[in-house]
Amino acid sequence: MRTVLWGIIVTPASNFQWQWWQDGVCVVHGETIEFVGEAAAYQQRYGQPPPEQPRFLMLPGFVDLHTHLPQYPVRGMGEGTLLEWLEKWIFPAEAAFQDAAYAYEVAKAFFQDLLAHGTTAAVVFGPPYEAATDAAFTAAKEAGIRLWMGMAVMDRSVPEALRRSPEILEMEMQRLVQRWHRPEERIQYAITPRFAPSCSPPLLHRCAALANRWELMVQTHLAENQAEIAWVAELFPDQPHYTGVYHHFGLLHSRTILAHCIHLSPAEQAIIRQKEAVIAHCPTSNRFLQSGIMPLRRYLDQQLRVGLGTDVAAGYQTALLYEAREAVEQSKTLALCDPDEKGTVDPATALWLATRGGAAALSMEHRIGAIEPEFEADIVCFAFPSQWQVQSLPHLLPLLLYRYEELTVTKVYVAGQLRYSGTP
Ligand code: GUN
Ligand code: FE
Repeated sequence: MRTVLWGIIVTPASNFQWQWWQDGVCVVHGETIEFVGEAAAYQQRYGQPPPEQPRFLMLPGFVDLHTHLPQYPVRGMGEGTLLEWLEKWIFPAEAAFQDAAYAYEVAKAFFQDLLAHGTTAAVVFGPPYEAATDAAFTAAKEAGIRLWMGMAVMDRSVPEALRRSPEILEMEMQRLVQRWHRPEERIQYAITPRFAPSCSPPLLHRCAALANRWELMVQTHLAENQAEIAWVAELFPDQPHYTGVYHHFGLLHSRTILAHCIHLSPAEQAIIRQKEAVIAHCPTSNRFLQSGIMPLRRYLDQQLRVGLGTDVAAGYQTALLYEAREAVEQSKTLALCDPDEKGTVDPATALWLATRGGAAALSMEHRIGAIEPEFEADIVCFAFPSQWQVQSLPHLLPLLLYRYEELTVTKVYVAGQLRYSGTP
């Protein structure tokens, strides 16, 4: 079956560049994109003009590299900094996921919300229980979103309801991998140790072994908050720094996503680069919890792999376009405050991170993250913003960030299938 989409097509090229077709047509055939080009080129190839239909503004679907499903009900709630906020607001919210039926209802709303904001691929911290994680995967499969998710595992320093022994957690993870790791169906299991303070050495060791055995993604948190960093130094006195803990247990590789990474020493940055691990930049959350401002410009200049994450619940919303705007604005704040920070990040770069950059972070840059022939058709269609006067791409890209509230998501495709349809 072919779907023909008509309008402005905006897509990232390689290396932070963009291209567009103002009177563009995209043809989706089955799961993949068959054709992208100007309407005249479409007519030449297919022997007819594009079918009469409303015009859209089209981008590749967004890639959210870091968010928490069981925190969706409490997004935007609470206050204070990381460790107090976790204790007071997050751990009780996650303990509620002992009820798998509740987990299913939350997961359904969560994935619908992501798709409704144009997110077609997400890397997600799941609930801390096996049955709830099953329910969340079931909801993801029904929603049709492209997903990397795992049960968040903890065996210390958290309320008893959230902890289990490394042996039990390993068994649960194994069962979940066997039931849900289905790359060909666009659903993958990601090994998910919450962060070093809540995972003992035996648990970290088991997590690394499982990720290696099945070549799975790993996701965790790193260097978000100064008190957290001091705590890790106490818990792991033999390691030179926080990054060294994950490195020591074999958890750093090109399939690892490290959320936050605000306060990293040059030595830590060097290890992350050498291991080709990915940094998930979560600027909204970083400000909400007063964690700090990640030096995004510096990391990009150093060729670190970076993408964007909404980090619900400390990130209080789910739109990657909003997150991209925050990434730009916070890079300006950092440049104002820190004389060592050389330059800022522009909207084209932030949007690139939300799309092709995210795809590259998942080693999927040849399959998703752009509207190109042969790519899988992960596409977000916005209602045509006829009030915008856009003569050029440099006019358009900033508007996507700064006036995204004027955009309406109308259709969202994942691998060629319509997964969200809003009012035009
Ligand atoms: N570090 C460990 N757990 C969490 C979490 O749930 N949210 C954030 N922002 N940081 C964390
Ligand atoms: Fe997080």
